[in-house]
Amino acid sequence: MQTTMKAVVVREFGDVDVMRMEQLPVPSPAAGEVLIKVHSVSVNQTLDIAVRQGRYRTNLRFPVVLGTDPAGVVAATGDGVASARSGERVAVVASIRCGECRFCRMGREDSCFRSKHLGLDRWGGYAEYVTVPAENVFPIPDNLSFGEASVVTRHFPTAINLLVNHARLVKDEWVLIMGAAGALGSCGVQIARHLGARVIAAAGTDSRAEGALGYGAEFAVNYREQDLETEVLRITDGHGVDVLFENIADPTLWPGAFNSLAFAGRLVTAGAHGGGTVPLDVKRLYLRRIRITGQPGATRKDVELALSLAGRGVVRAIIDRTMPLARVKEAHELLERGGIVGKIVLDPTLG
Ligand SMILES: NC(=O)c1ccc[n+]([C@@H]2O[C@H](COP(=O)([O-])OP(=O)(O)OC[C@H]3O[C@@H](n4cnc5c(N)ncnc54)[C@H](OP(=O)(O)O)[C@@H]3O)[C@@H](O)[C@H]2O)c1
Ligand SMILES: [Zn+2]
Repeated sequence: MQTTMKAVVVREFGDVDVMRMEQLPVPSPAAGEVLIKVHSVSVNQTLDIAVRQGRYRTNLRFPVVLGTDPAGVVAATGDGVASARSGERVAVVASIRCGECRFCRMGREDSCFRSKHLGLDRWGGYAEYVTVPAENVFPIPDNLSFGEASVVTRHFPTAINLLVNHARLVKDEWVLIMGAAGALGSCGVQIARHLGARVIAAAGTDSRAEGALGYGAEFAVNYREQDLETEVLRITDGHGVDVLFENIADPTLWPGAFNSLAFAGRLVTAGAHGGGTVPLDVKRLYLRRIRITGQPGATRKDVELALSLAGRGVVRAIIDRTMPLARVKEAHELLERGGIVGKIVLDPTLG
């Protein structure tokens, strides 16, 4: 096996030029860890671009290798690893639980408050090889590509956790998916449809909203052009939506989305690209018995379900394109420019 590898190393915050391809020793897996030969890793708005620009985590310890969702082949295992074997195709979950905090001890694995993150707190997958704890590794179903496995593992478990475990969305309920053309939103549309819910997809242009009709939405609304509340009440015959998959927190979009909730509706969120501070009508909140849940992350069961659903073709990863790792700067620029539908995947085996 090779002893050195190419990795994209970041040593300071800045524009795309702070990502430099360097030659480093291949890391060895410690006890309880696996070494993975990386075949894919996706490019993320927050966890790659905002991190590199210094907009996400100002106390980042340099040097760092980005890349939160590598997938590849197990190249070696450390002492005591029985759950993964060399040659196995695996995807990786980025959040590394502490195993000791109050929530870990309670079994609330989506709420560890001392969790570490791959690509932030330890070196991630923008490299030919990466080491990760064995408990973060999941087998990839045969008919999924590495790129699909990266994308499925990154976003579907969060959508499952929000809609299934927290919103408790069930068959025939109405659900409004905000940012339905985005990475998390497009997963939300597919999971809601899989649960048998009636899905209204909302996005910022007609074509982005209507695109969601192709992956499970029944109705599409352009929230930048149409009055969201009026449209939702028209579509649902005055009922409103039982569940609002929000994840944007844009102060101009929030009131229309919030007012679309039915009596005893549930709002779930794990994101705030739209700013994060919004006007909240508290009277409406309590009089209409609305519940709001903030819940990033997911459980092992959610990851297993996501990979199984994707393996059976029930849900699919939406990938815009795959590029060699060497073209990482171009990949970041493309995503920053906007208009990409689905994910950009980097493949270190292509160069
Ligand atoms: N594990 C987790 O908890 C987890 C996992 C994944 C994502 N997230 C979070 O979920 C959020 C969505 O992530 P994502 O990867 O799906 O991002 P994304 O692909 O960029 O999608 C976000 C969508 O929000 C819409 N949007 C509306 N107003 C916006 C604004 N002011 N700025 C940016 N976008 C706006 C955009 O659609 P239109 O242009 O059509 O309006 C966009 O498609 C992020 O906050 C992310 O950090 C959390
Ligand atoms: Zn913990």
